[in-house]
Amino acid sequence: MEGGVESASKDVDQPLLSLRGISKNFGAVEALREVDLDVSAGEVTAIIGDNGAGKSTLIKTVSGILTPSEGQIFWCGERVALKTPREADELGISTVYQDLALCDNLDIVANMFLGHESLRYRLLDENAMEAAAKVTLNSLAVTTVRSVRSLVVSLSGGQRQSVAVARAVMRDAKLVILDEPTAALGVTQTAQVLSLIRRLADRGIAVLVISHNLNDVFTVADRLAVMHLGRMVHVGPISEFTPQTAVEIITTGTFVGAKANSTRSQPSNAGDRQ
Ligand SMILES: Nc1ncnc2c1ncn2[C@@H]1O[C@H](COP(=O)(O)OP(=O)(O)OP(=O)(O)O)[C@@H](O)[C@H]1O
Ligand SMILES: [Mg+2]
Repeated sequence: MEGGVESASKDVDQPLLSLRGISKNFGAVEALREVDLDVSAGEVTAIIGDNGAGKSTLIKTVSGILTPSEGQIFWCGERVALKTPREADELGISTVYQDLALCDNLDIVANMFLGHESLRYRLLDENAMEAAAKVTLNSLAVTTVRSVRSLVVSLSGGQRQSVAVARAVMRDAKLVILDEPTAALGVTQTAQVLSLIRRLADRGIAVLVISHNLNDVFTVADRLAVMHLGRMVHVGPISEFTPQTAVEIITTGTFVGAKANSTRSQPSNAGDRQ
């Protein structure tokens, strides 16, 4: 683990991931300003906010694509520096992007093992790979693909999302990050992907999902994290919000009844709200 120079005291309930005071500047643009966020295992945390609020920039700092200008990232209470996507991947942070980075000309099995074949699998133990792919897809109740030998090019958008998520699960991801997973999907496919997200959380995986679709958010999220102009303006359980108050805070950056975003704590005693 890189940069494990500081440790917060261990706490059974401590968040899997904690961000403290994360800022990111692109020249004069302050894309993120002192963002705090806790993400816990077994929960779906949805990041919402208007275009340009900083959502994608924030998850890129967690997936090792961008290095914060300031701030600290804690993983299981231990400070980490996520300097590359590989470092994030080694911790168990897996990001599913919109374009998914699947290979159209390969089948589902090959895509699920691509770049992460174990030595055993390098011996082209196709049967073992196929069996492992089937077990993972079945365990996630992904039942709409006819065959794991289907080429990815022949899959629907929802099925592709499912394969990308299953790949993350097979690699033992502890945190799965999804940026707008349903943006290009129809109604049925959206429902399939949302229930897949729910199943990830139910099996103890932490899920961080960016979405513009409040229907999706209210269907699947346990907690909402609302960003406005680079700031995290409110984080709380979904029960604190209605679609109306969510729209209000997205557009104005203020939320009546929201607690002040004034105290910054270490992960071990961080509360739910910033
Ligand atoms: N590589 C970059 N160089 C310069 N500015 C950037 C860069 N990436 C993002 N920004 C700026 O940072 C701010 C936040 O962008 P970001 O992409 O994180 O927003 P977002 O919340 O994901 O928006 P959207 O909902 O449109 O995807 C924006 O003002 C954007 O222009
Ligand atoms: Mg974005």
